[in-house]
Amino acid sequence: MKKALITGIAGQDGSYLSEHLLSLGYEVHGIVRRHSVAENQNHRLDKLGLNEHVHTHYGDLLDYPSLVRITQEVQPDEIYNLGAMSHVRVSFDMPSFTIQTNALGVLNMLEVYRTLVPNAKFYQASSSEMFGNSVDDDGVQRLTTPMNPVSPYGCAKVMGYNLVRHYRHAYKLHACNGILFNHESPRRGSNFVTNKVVKGAVSIKKGLQDKLELGNMDSYRDWGHSKDYVRAMHMIINHDEPDEFIVATGETHSVRDLCEQVFSKLDMDYRDYIVQNPKYMRPEELKYLKGDSSKSRKVLGWEPEYTFSSMLDEMIERWEREL
Ligand code: NAP
Ligand code: GDD
Repeated sequence: MKKALITGIAGQDGSYLSEHLLSLGYEVHGIVRRHSVAENQNHRLDKLGLNEHVHTHYGDLLDYPSLVRITQEVQPDEIYNLGAMSHVRVSFDMPSFTIQTNALGVLNMLEVYRTLVPNAKFYQASSSEMFGNSVDDDGVQRLTTPMNPVSPYGCAKVMGYNLVRHYRHAYKLHACNGILFNHESPRRGSNFVTNKVVKGAVSIKKGLQDKLELGNMDSYRDWGHSKDYVRAMHMIINHDEPDEFIVATGETHSVRDLCEQVFSKLDMDYRDYIVQNPKYMRPEELKYLKGDSSKSRKVLGWEPEYTFSSMLDEMIERWEREL
């Protein structure tokens, strides 16, 4: 039985990846942080009944001794480094913590990997936010597109990405980067724009609120489903050669278009309900994302199963049930 160690197991992707690996027969271990409200530690895992099936360990990407202890104990075959301060706007408020977790945290994980389990495989959760506002002439980002990050989050992810490549070359390690474009799901944090819009629209429909406050509605994102993207993580780490891969749908929508689609699915016109609040604007905005994932499709055989519309339907259904 193969063993996987997942940092950020309690996050959106961590929960889907756990389910995927369990279905493939893995023994799944994950690192969780201590919260003062104990129920929050494993909230997603608890809700899904996953706690009984995965092994969780207290730790933190910034607490090197905890990473050593856990890695020694688990002896993983595959390490998935998903732990991060993952909210781009919040990274402007907490730049130092973001850089520490998302850059130095990667270094800490690579060091325990190199020194304790060098025969294991390593996956790093890299991000399309690393491209910033670089777009190739044909309107897409690909592996050769220059990285010009526009947020503390993006800067830290570029450092993590480069460290992974460096460790692979310097120490001959099986260390890979998945550059994933935005991916969402019913389990997405409700302060990311997709889930915020869906939750807001369903609340308005049910008469629980009148308005929805948003920031910039003119940025574009390439949105896929987390469930599809965690399958790609497993394919990337298990490819013969450690390498870089982009995972994206190749389709882009503006935030305005997202609002239009979600509200019209609920027979409403978004223009009657959305108000803009500067609080949700960013000091520097990433304007446009559309990824070229042809290498993942050709080399790994990866294909998404969800469409933008079927993903939104699933998210709407969650809030209709819960609210
Ligand atoms: P998420 O839901 O925010 O999950 C992130 C997880 O990281 C949380 O469980 C969090 O723990 C944990 N974490 C935060 N700081 C930590 C630290 N110092 N030590 C240990 N764990 C820590 O994010 P996600 O959407 O699943 O994303 C997973 C990874 O993919 C992240 O690295 C993210 O940056 C990257 N990524 C995401 C996307 C996307 O669109 N979702 C796209 C590209 C890349 P708590 O639960 O205790 O907060
Ligand atoms: N969160 C949020 N809240 N975003 C808003 C809002 C709002 O009220 N109003 C407009 N937006 C716009 C943002 O300015 C941004 O242009 C877009 O909606 C998407 O924002 P998020 O959903 O917060 O995602 P993100 O693109 O900044 O970051 C996500 O994707 C990255 C990959 O490109 C995160 O998951 C990152 O962790 C990930 O790396």
